[in-house]
This record gives sequence, structure tokens and C-alpha cells, in this order.
Amino acid sequence: MFRVDNEKCVGCGLCIEDCFVKDITFIKDKAFIKNKDCIKCGHCIAICPVNAVSTDEYNMNEVIEYDKETFHVKSDNLLNFIKFRRTIRKFKDKEIEEEKLLKIIQAGRYTPTAANVQNVSYVVVHDKIQELRELVLESLNNLAEKIMKNSTIEKELKYARIWKMMYKVFKRNPNKQDSLFFFSKNIIIITSPNELNAGLASSNMELMCNALGLGALYSGFFILASQNSDKIKKFLNLEENTKIVNCMIIGYPDVKYLRTAPRKESSIKWM
Ligand SMILES: Cc1cc2nc3c(=O)[nH]c(=O)nc-3n(C[C@H](O)[C@H](O)[C@H](O)COP(=O)(O)O)c2cc1C
Repeated sequence: MFRVDNEKCVGCGLCIEDCFVKDITFIKDKAFIKNKDCIKCGHCIAICPVNAVSTDEYNMNEVIEYDKETFHVKSDNLLNFIKFRRTIRKFKDKEIEEEKLLKIIQAGRYTPTAANVQNVSYVVVHDKIQELRELVLESLNNLAEKIMKNSTIEKELKYARIWKMMYKVFKRNPNKQDSLFFFSKNIIIITSPNELNAGLASSNMELMCNALGLGALYSGFFILASQNSDKIKKFLNLEENTKIVNCMIIGYPDVKYLRTAPRKESSIKWM
């Protein structure tokens, strides 16, 4: 339940004005939350000038007061940060600290979700990464065989050849080359019924990786493999209808980029 402390409420109406589902009203000049259509977005808590609003559904100790010094990011710095992030495909043989992994997940957790449903979940794989690698490569190899039998599309055949080769290399010696996880020590799998929610969370998580001195790679290969294998879902202990939306391969980069990479011009229509 979201509630207003009547002793503190000054009746300014800011929470009423900001509540887009109109779940707050005035009763005797004090704000009153009906808790009927509330989507628990927490705007009422964030906007109250006298800190009169609280909830027992979230941890109120996590709510922090705005502080320009520690909250503000200059737009040019933000853009440079986005421009300079790179997909990392070479990692150091170094463990990632647990607090860093938790901070990456915090970045996902605080990302908005449609209707504030907060339906993004995470699986962090460390100990069982080699077993998972084998399952993924097996699934890609099966997919490759299907493509080779049924397709004449050159782009599909190209990937089929790559996946067959990856599987063969793994089977010959799993420690020699790893074009799937790039010998990373941790991967985070992001699941959600809503692909956009998971995608947005992933993007913020990737930025956090960079802020922590880590690097990441989104693995489209993993996503494809998991969509074609019930074994992978079972291995990850996921319920049958859980949708794997993304997979982030994370580690300390063993590569140094000196400048940003170029991009196509944006396609924009101004109307
Ligand atoms: C959704 C998605 C899936 C990707 N899957 C793979 C992958 O399976 N393997 C890989 O090596 N790179 C993968 N990438 C990395 C892209 O190739 C990379 O983002 C792109 O070349 C631009 O390079 P940059 O990330 O360094 O800017 C993926 C990227 C995205 C956004």
C-alpha cells in the first residue's frame, strides 16, 4: 500500500497532479492515495516536498534524496560515454567481483518497464559456464545442420558454417578457442515476457559494465540457440514459458580502444 502521512502532508497537490492514473485525491486538504489504479511507480514518493509518502511494498531505505553533485551527468560526457562503449570479445583471466555484478543488475532493475510491471529477471552464470557453452554450441550445431539441409540462402549458410566450425573446435579442445563466450567468466541472461523491457534494461546494464571498467558482448548466438533448445531452459532452471530475451557476456576487457568508432548517419524524418 502507498500511503500519505497526514501529519507531514502540506496539501500542495503535487502528487495528485503528477499521478497519471489519477489514484490520488484530496480529502480534507490532505492527499489521499486510493490504491485502486495505482501502478506503484513511486512518483508520489519522489515528488513530495515534505517526504510524506511511503509504501510498504518496496524498501523505502533505498530511496535517496536528489543531490546535483552525485546525480548529474553532463550531456556531452554522456554522449561520449555512449560513443566510446565497445563490444568486447577479448577478456582477461580475472574474476568479476560480486558487488560489481550486483551493481550491473541494479542498473537493469532501475530501468523503466511498461506500466511499471518490473518483469525483467536475471540469471547469472559463473560455475556452470562451460556446461552451458556446450549446450549452446550443440543447439547451434543442430540449427546449422537444419539450415544446410533446407536452405539455399547464402547468409544463413554462412552462419551455419560458422556454428558447425565453433562446435567442432569446442569438441576438439574446449580450452583452445572460444568464439561464443570468449572465455568470459560470467554471463547474465535477461528474461522477460516483454522484449522491450528486457532490451532497455540490458542497455543500461551494458553502460554500467563500462562505468565499472568491465566490458560486455550481447550474444545473438546465445539467444538463437536458447530459442531452439528446451535443454538450455531446463539447464537454467527456467519455467517453460519464460522468454530469454538477451544474454550479456561480461568480463574485464583485454583490449584497449583509443577512439570512438564511426557510424552511419541517423535516418530521421522531421515532421
Ligand atoms: C542484439 C545484438 C546481438 C549481438 N550478437 C552478437 C554475437 O552473437 N556475437 C558477436 O560477436 N557480436 C554480437 N553483437 C555485437 C555487434 O556485432 C556489435 O554491437 C556491432 O558490431 C557494433 O560494434 P560495437 O558494439 O563495438 O559498437 C551483437 C550486438 C547486438 C546489439
